[in-house]
Amino acid sequence: MTVVPHSPKVDELIRRLDEAVLENDDAVRCQNVKRVLMDLIGKEQILDASFLQPSPDTYARRLLHRDPQGRYTALVMVWDKGQGTPLHDHAGMWCVEGVLSGDIDVTQYELLEEQGDRYRFRRQNTVSAGVGNAGALIPPFEYHTIANTSPTSKAVTVHVYAGEMTSCTAFIPVSAATGADDGWHERQERQLTYSE
Ligand SMILES: [Fe+2]
Repeated sequence: MTVVPHSPKVDELIRRLDEAVLENDDAVRCQNVKRVLMDLIGKEQILDASFLQPSPDTYARRLLHRDPQGRYTALVMVWDKGQGTPLHDHAGMWCVEGVLSGDIDVTQYELLEEQGDRYRFRRQNTVSAGVGNAGALIPPFEYHTIANTSPTSKAVTVHVYAGEMTSCTAFIPVSAATGADDGWHERQERQLTYSE
């Protein structure tokens, strides 16, 4: 993977994230990270064009920064119109997500029960986030989907995770096969890679 030198604005983002993650408490740390994202990503385009290209089959996922001390990674995701995720977890990591352009819908789910490889969820609220908005997900409240429902424009988001997330669990509705929308899902382990 080619390493592109960061702009001064991205250097500032990284410097401020380094400060923000010094807190020990996850809730305070996430509030700090959220404030940094809201300060820096909504006002102007801070990213090189190479980060902003959508991918044809699924949302693009690109590494912006890996903290040398392993405390966090910052990723850029590009959601072409209609692209989104299945219901998934974050492998137990806290995450803060901010919107750099476009709009995304984040829908949270509550885990109600599990039986073997099957998990039953209840859909909770959907938050539509626009440019400059940011939100945090702190385990165990980490089950969610993200979608760009716009029929006309892409969306770009910045995600800060508690480490490097190389895999997560996706939950696929059983109802896709049976037609019954009863909240039951089957788990699928997913390896996560970076896009070109
Ligand atoms: Fe997520």
